[in-house]
Amino acid sequence: MDATLSAVRAEFPLLEKVTYLNSNSTGAFPRGMEAVLQRYGQTLQHWRDEAWEGWWADWLGYMDAVARFIGAPDGSVVTDTNLTTLLGRLGTCFDYQGERRRVVTTDLEFPTVPFLWKGFERYGAETVVVPSENGRMDEERLCAAIDERTLLVSVTHASSSTGAMLDLASVVRRAHAVGALVAVDAYQSVGAVPIDVSALGVDFLLGGAHKWMCGSIESAFLYVRPALLPTLRPAATGWIAGENPLTFGPVRDWAPTARRMASGTPAVLPSQLSRVGLDILASVGMPTIRAHSLRCTARVMERADEAGFTVVTPRQEERRAGVVALRFPGDAAVAQRLVASGFICSYRGMLRVAPHLYNTLEEVDRFMDALVAEARKEKA
Ligand SMILES: Cc1ncc(COP(=O)(O)O)c(C=O)c1O
Repeated sequence: MDATLSAVRAEFPLLEKVTYLNSNSTGAFPRGMEAVLQRYGQTLQHWRDEAWEGWWADWLGYMDAVARFIGAPDGSVVTDTNLTTLLGRLGTCFDYQGERRRVVTTDLEFPTVPFLWKGFERYGAETVVVPSENGRMDEERLCAAIDERTLLVSVTHASSSTGAMLDLASVVRRAHAVGALVAVDAYQSVGAVPIDVSALGVDFLLGGAHKWMCGSIESAFLYVRPALLPTLRPAATGWIAGENPLTFGPVRDWAPTARRMASGTPAVLPSQLSRVGLDILASVGMPTIRAHSLRCTARVMERADEAGFTVVTPRQEERRAGVVALRFPGDAAVAQRLVASGFICSYRGMLRVAPHLYNTLEEVDRFMDALVAEARKEKA
C-alpha cells in the first residue's frame, strides 16, 4: 500500500474494529465527521439565525467540490437527500405528450429507477426496459432501443449487484445522434472509478455520498450539463430553486445554476459531513484510488478462482467498478456468518466483496481466508 493510502487508513476508525469490505453498500465513515457533528450540535445549542450564512456557504461549497471531483464546472451540481428525489424532480422538467416521450432504461437499474419512471407513465411517459444477459448490458442492444421517440436514456453506470460497468460513450453518442438526453446513475461508480462528466458528455449524472464517496447518509447529488440548465423548468420545485431565495420574496424565476434543481430548505448537515470524505478522496486522487481498487478486486477474483467460486462480475478492468460479486453453494449463509464474525460484506442474491482506498491487500487476503473457510463448512 502506498504511503498516502496508509495515512488515509488511519482516518477511518471502523477499520480498527472489523474487516470492512462493504463500500458498495455503505462506505466507512471518516473520523473527521465527529468534529462536524460536534460543531453542528454547538450551533444548535447557541442558535441564532445567522448560522444560516455559514451553512449556506457550506452547502454551496460542497456542491462545487462535488462538481470539481467529477470534472464539472462550479454551479453544475445540486444536492438533496437521495438520488430518487433528484431523478424524480428531473422527470418533472419534461413533457410526455409528444412523439418523443420514451424513457429507455435497463433491467440492471437500482429498483428505484424503473419504479420511478413507471410512475411517470401517468403523465404520458412510455418506459422501455432493455433486458440484460448474464447480468451484463450489451451496448448495441441498448443503442438499438434508442431512437427519435426517446426523450431520456436513464441508465446505471455500474450495476449495484455486480459492479458491471456500461460503456457510456457509445450510449451517449447514440442518444445524442437521435436527439435524446442521457441521465446516468453513477452511485456505484463515483468515488470508485474516475469520472469526468465533460469527457463523457452525459447530460445528467446522479450519485450519492455514503458508499464510495465516504460521505454521509442523506447526501445525493445531481450534475446537469451547463448548456441544459436554462432549459430545465422543474414542476416539483420550491423557493430554494429560485434566483434569490434569501430575499424571501415571491419567486419569479429559477436560479441560473444547478440550484434551480433544488426545492426547499437544503440538507446542510449531510453536505458538511460529506465534505470530509470528499476532501480525503480528492487529496488522494482518483487514479491512485482506482489503481488500488483494481489491485484489491483482482486479488478477490484470484482467490475466488482458486476456491472454485463463480465470479459474476466481469473480469475486464474497464468493465467493472469497485465490487466483486460471487456465487457458490451456501453463499447467503456464509455472508451472514462472515458479518457476525466481523468480516463485513453484503449479500443481494450474491455475496459482494467491496474493498476501497482504506483497505489493504492483507485485509483482502484475511477476508478471503475467512470466506473460503466458511464456504468449506457448507460443503462438509
Ligand atoms: C446504483 C444505485 N442507485 C441508487 C441507489 C440509492 O438511491 P437513493 O439515494 O434514492 O436511495 C443505490 C444504493 O442505495 C444504488 O446502488
